Amino acid sequence: MLKIAIIIGSTRPGRKGDAVGKWAYDIARKRNDAEFELVDIADFNLPLLDEPVPPMFGQYSHDHTRAWSAKISSFDGYVFVTPEYNHGTSAALKNAIDFLYHEWNNKAAGFIAYGGAMGVRAVENLRLVMAEMQVATVRAQVGLSLFTDFENFTVFKPAETQQKNVTGMLDQVIAWSGALKPLRNK
Ligand SMILES: Cc1cc2nc3c(=O)[nH]c(=O)nc-3n(C[C@H](O)[C@H](O)[C@H](O)COP(=O)(O)O)c2cc1C
Repeated sequence: MLKIAIIIGSTRPGRKGDAVGKWAYDIARKRNDAEFELVDIADFNLPLLDEPVPPMFGQYSHDHTRAWSAKISSFDGYVFVTPEYNHGTSAALKNAIDFLYHEWNNKAAGFIAYGGAMGVRAVENLRLVMAEMQVATVRAQVGLSLFTDFENFTVFKPAETQQKNVTGMLDQVIAWSGALKPLRNK
């Protein structure tokens, strides 16, 4: 069975990312064509990248890197739940991505973003980063608006159509994660 991680990409106290991640996970876990796990980068307490050797060489000197590496390498694909900070993704998520390299390779990813403009610029930012990580990003994406999917810009109350958008994005992530399997087995 394919294993897909839903990665919560913000760590800020009072963040909206955990509510969005749990909502996506509750939709995903009802499927029977893949297994899903909610992965919160906050649980890994990653400092700003502190490995002396570039991640591409896989020579990790810290336990926090080894724990993060073991978690990320166990998946066939990813769904990144990302806020938009200053027209990009969060520094915390970019840092967590930068910590590793081969663990991400030859897998697929989809995005759930949120912000004043539905997080579209954060997703465009992540698509460039994913290309360097050799991750295939799917077209379907979920954009949540602070104006219409959050009550008073605060409490997460997604519009009904958003569930369908999550399903469409997951369909593509699962299909591509499976299709890339021969490359991962080389
Ligand atoms: C540092 C910072 C920068 C932000 N920049 C943007 C932005 O460029 N565009 C946007 O639509 N929203 C922006 N916002 C609003 C965030 O998308 C919104 O606060 C969101 O809830 C942040 O995600 P989080 O709650 O999971 O941390 C910004 C918020 C912060 C804290």
